[in-house]
Amino acid sequence: MTGTIGVLTGGGDCPGLNAAIRAVVRSGIASGSEVIGIRNGWQGLITNDTVPLSDHAISGIISWGGTILGSSRTDPVKNSDDIKSLKRTIDTQGIGALVVIGGDGTLRAAHEISSRGVPLVGIPKTIDNDIFGTDVTIGFDTAVSTVTEAIDRLHTTAESHHRIMVLEVMGRRSGRIALAAGMAGGADQILVPEVRVSMEEICQSLDVRHRSGKKFSIVVVAEGMRHEDIDGTTVPECDRDECGHEKFVGIGNFLGKELERRMGIETRVTVLGHVQRGGSPTAQDRILATRLGIAAVDQIHTGNFGCMVGVRGNRIAPMALESVVNQSRGIDPAEYARAKLVTGIRD
Ligand code: F6P
Repeated sequence: MTGTIGVLTGGGDCPGLNAAIRAVVRSGIASGSEVIGIRNGWQGLITNDTVPLSDHAISGIISWGGTILGSSRTDPVKNSDDIKSLKRTIDTQGIGALVVIGGDGTLRAAHEISSRGVPLVGIPKTIDNDIFGTDVTIGFDTAVSTVTEAIDRLHTTAESHHRIMVLEVMGRRSGRIALAAGMAGGADQILVPEVRVSMEEICQSLDVRHRSGKKFSIVVVAEGMRHEDIDGTTVPECDRDECGHEKFVGIGNFLGKELERRMGIETRVTVLGHVQRGGSPTAQDRILATRLGIAAVDQIHTGNFGCMVGVRGNRIAPMALESVVNQSRGIDPAEYARAKLVTGIRD
């Protein structure tokens, strides 16, 4: 018996967080624990901002987007005073174990804090689906559905006006959203940070398509694709957020201008932005979040701390946070090569 379980959501939000919180609360209560929510990620643990989570408090939230607990990108390991404050909250609230629902930054902090003796278990979430140790993260499926719908909508207007449509989607280090939604939506070009493609190659491939009689094209590009990956131009270092993440300068608009200039075809650019992170989670995301929430509580009760619960081969698979945070998970080149068979992507 672990006593009180604390749960927090950190980093960028995504659909499915509430389903995970609900599962932690329900399975925690079922196994005899009390559960408290920590508001706004690590920030709430530093400032002792918590809320009791009864069965009643989480009733009906499975279909809600966002997170009832709020989130922040606060990094607690930057400052030793914050670590002291965080430990004080854990003692004051009688927290026996933490469930940390987060992406790369939050899980990296979780690993640091766990190695300083705080018992915790991580759950992977991010629409980008780029966390090592799990086949899929909470939020990815919903984001891919949203982007696929956007591609479908762009198709009809692109065809009517004989235009090239560039769609910029999220994906800081990985183009998994672009690849999955591009395949589902039948995009003609999918550009991802993991694979360099020159501007000449992109134009050549679109030209082949247009010469074959197609009068429009859809190009999906992940925001993390760099100018230098496309045209060799190095752009000035961009601003960074408080976690050191780059604030992107707009690869979609750059591509749109270049395509119009080089190909002489009218081009429009859509930057989907945070629409991809909003809204109600798909059934897949609700199920994944529920499975991972239950699995996290199971790990707590078996005393397997310092791990992240992921899914590999559709089975729940815990992995030490140390392994998770020290490895990256980009697109497998073979997967990208297979996608080329059904899109206009050319070497
Ligand atoms: O990490 C997930 C993500 O959705 C990235 O794809 C994106 O770059 C980032 O969050 C944007 O986050 P925010 O605008 O909330 O800082």
